Amino acid sequence: MSELALLGGKPVRQESFPAWPVHDERDVEAVSEVIRSGNWGGYPYPGPRTQAFLKKFAEIQGGGYGVAVVNGTVTMEVALRAANVGWGDEVIVPAYTFQATAAAPMAAGAIPVIVDIDPETYCIDPKAIEAAITPRTKAIIPVHLGAQMADMDAIMAIAEKHNLIVVEDCAHAHGAKWRGRGAGTIGHFGSFSLQSSKTVTSGEGGVLLCRTQELANRATSIIDCGRPHDPAEQEFTMGANYRMSELHCALATVALERFPDQAKEREAMAAYMDEALSEVPGVRLLKRDPRHTTRSFYCYIFKIDPTVFGFGHDVVCEALQAEGIPSWEGYEAMSHYELFQPKLSKLPVPTAFPERFDFEKLELPEAETACQSEAVWLGESVFRAGQKGVDDVVNALKKVYENREALKQRS
Ligand SMILES: Cc1ncc(COP(=O)(O)O)c(C=O)c1O
Repeated sequence: MSELALLGGKPVRQESFPAWPVHDERDVEAVSEVIRSGNWGGYPYPGPRTQAFLKKFAEIQGGGYGVAVVNGTVTMEVALRAANVGWGDEVIVPAYTFQATAAAPMAAGAIPVIVDIDPETYCIDPKAIEAAITPRTKAIIPVHLGAQMADMDAIMAIAEKHNLIVVEDCAHAHGAKWRGRGAGTIGHFGSFSLQSSKTVTSGEGGVLLCRTQELANRATSIIDCGRPHDPAEQEFTMGANYRMSELHCALATVALERFPDQAKEREAMAAYMDEALSEVPGVRLLKRDPRHTTRSFYCYIFKIDPTVFGFGHDVVCEALQAEGIPSWEGYEAMSHYELFQPKLSKLPVPTAFPERFDFEKLELPEAETACQSEAVWLGESVFRAGQKGVDDVVNALKKVYENREALKQRS
């Protein structure tokens, strides 16, 4: 049994995994063309590259009316505002996500109501959504986390029953499909981030896919300083400059050209990973729902069983990193974020500040378990290094398992 790198042994992998984002002369040429054109920004909206990019994005995702926005946080704020969700309304969000999912409703003036996840998928639990609905609930933001998709059948059924807006947070889900339908085209809105770690990136940027032209027109006004974008409308609305620039759209268009091949490669390697990881003791794969027909891989998340290893995911990740594997423990549960301070709200208590939003009283056992002891996240780069890349991940995990006693005893 070879010694763990963390304890002084030789790492399983010595070379680094492929860097992200991938780039070549096509990106340089695309940006140079925009520079030569003199039309660099996002005004007047939409410019020619913005239009071409949005057309291609909607084609790949399988529908929707696209709006090009500065990032994948503002997209969600704009979606809520375009749907008239705002001051005093409640928006249900999962406890396991990046802070942006809860910050966006707050920016729109609404209250994020944080609910627990399904431990099998790590996505929002539809039962928890139902239990959290009040007369003030106006929207749900399911997050398609890592390589998973939330149960969109159950979520849309709840939304229809209670007349709620659904904004899919697809920051991790470019190219993903649920029963053949693209992530972000099932709810009323799909919010995508193009930030530099994302699988389609222009450094910064975002796309909001809207279900109708009318919603897209309203969202466009909000991101274009309030200018009217509905042909029948002359009045300005309340808006700001959240436009994505032509320079960014040119880069994003090249990224989309590469995306289908990259997605196929990741999917093939992830299938190989599923097989191999299921043989490692103490490792549990997240549920693969058969309705999730195309997976996309921003991150690959699995669970470890701390009772088998004798320690939690923090130690597993530390040991994997020492073996040369890009892995980490993932997000904190939302209830642990200090960002949200509902007690500072000027809204009247208790009508607009439900007691269940008090962080001291929030009970999110599944998210807590995932965040505090079980979840292990792998970066997408492990799927761009051929079978050897996946083998290295699996061998490193086996090595951690085999050396678990030594690791437990480390001073
Ligand atoms: C789940 C999730 N939602 C939203 C965002 C926000 O995207 P952006 O950084 O483009 O604002 C991110 C990531 O950055 C994310 O991971």
